[in-house]
Amino acid sequence: MRTILVDIGPLAHLSGEGPISGQGLIDEDSLIAHEKGIVIEGNKIVTVDNSEDLVEEYGVPNTTLNSLSKIKSSENKIVSLEGRSVIPGLVDSHAHIIWAGDRSREIRWKQNGKSYSEIASMGGGIVSTVNQTRTASEEELFQLGKTRLEAAFQSGTTHIESKSGYGLNTDTELRLLEVSRNLSLCDGLPSMDHTWLGAHAIPEEKSHKEYFQSLMSEQLPAICEQGIARSTDVFCEPGWFTLEETEELLRESRSNGLDLRLHIDEFVDGGGGELAAEMKVESADHAHHTNDEARAKMKDAGVNTGFLPGTPYSMGEQWPNFNKMINDDIVWSIATDFNPNNQILSIPFLSSLLVSRCGVDPLATLVCSTRNPAITTPHPSGLEHGKIEVGSIANLNILDSKNWESWCTRPSHSPFIGTMLEGKYYSH
Ligand code: NIG
Ligand code: FE
Repeated sequence: MRTILVDIGPLAHLSGEGPISGQGLIDEDSLIAHEKGIVIEGNKIVTVDNSEDLVEEYGVPNTTLNSLSKIKSSENKIVSLEGRSVIPGLVDSHAHIIWAGDRSREIRWKQNGKSYSEIASMGGGIVSTVNQTRTASEEELFQLGKTRLEAAFQSGTTHIESKSGYGLNTDTELRLLEVSRNLSLCDGLPSMDHTWLGAHAIPEEKSHKEYFQSLMSEQLPAICEQGIARSTDVFCEPGWFTLEETEELLRESRSNGLDLRLHIDEFVDGGGGELAAEMKVESADHAHHTNDEARAKMKDAGVNTGFLPGTPYSMGEQWPNFNKMINDDIVWSIATDFNPNNQILSIPFLSSLLVSRCGVDPLATLVCSTRNPAITTPHPSGLEHGKIEVGSIANLNILDSKNWESWCTRPSHSPFIGTMLEGKYYSH
């Protein structure tokens, strides 16, 4: 049984190898096609061809989008999209999904000019979420995570990276990764890429030195034995983990088979960009204060820069100059950084920020939310994702519009009428 989508309006297929940077990000001719159709078999795209030719080969439409997932049949299902635009499933390559508690009272502290580290020293911040997360049951954490993943899926996210980091002891860090893995086994939710972020902050019961030693000697070996995390991440920032500690933890993680990601230069230029380049991490994120020379080194080392525009939004700060990144040919992506301090799960909302507030081209924001981040967070099936081409996973979003640009002009509710997730259609 195949699903054949015909009469697609503009198809933002974004196909090709590797990440896109520079002027390539806005090259409409090579990234968007017209009058196309798509054939899906199982979870995979098997053909992208002219719509008319597909109708000739398979026949005229015999079903509707709404009945696509309802009718079980062994026959090919042919559906007309009536000119609606299609874009790839969105890829959220940086998110903190599993935690409990509420930090909304911090909004007034922020408004009163308290900095992120002042809020932490007032009993707010990461450690306050850790205390609330440690006492939550696995079932509670699972339900919280599920609700968040459902919201992300409504907004077109088909794959999401999920970091631990609100346990800060071995037992809870293992538990958070287990919840993350259990969520990734659910049908109808985005697939997941699990990351260990034990080096997120220092828990109250340990000194900095004691905690770092326990990360190296106890937590990392336990995480490796558990085998759920694919990568290690470190909050490498003055006041949190130093460059030396970060390098030591990254080296030990790599020698244990883990891939590497980083939080760098969120508040100041702390040298994280140079380290990210030297260690050739997959993605170095935040990076708002990284200097130009370090950015160039990251680019030469093949490191993706993961901008997290929701964080400055939630903190009342300014965004980096994204168009400069395009002019400087930097390889970059955007992600939500969903966390208790920044509760944004919608990539279309972020894209509207970039387009309407930062002057970024809608096609560039699309590539930086799909094909580019997908390279740093591989799909568990082993198939490529973040683009619509033969052989890639059948993850795509159908817009409620004949214009592909509408993906970033509807920040308050989903711009999609439905999403195909691994070959199965869900309406929104
Ligand atoms: O990426 N900056 C470090 N970690 C998270 C925030 C964590 C929190 O405030 O709970 C981030 O923004
Ligand atoms: Fe983060």
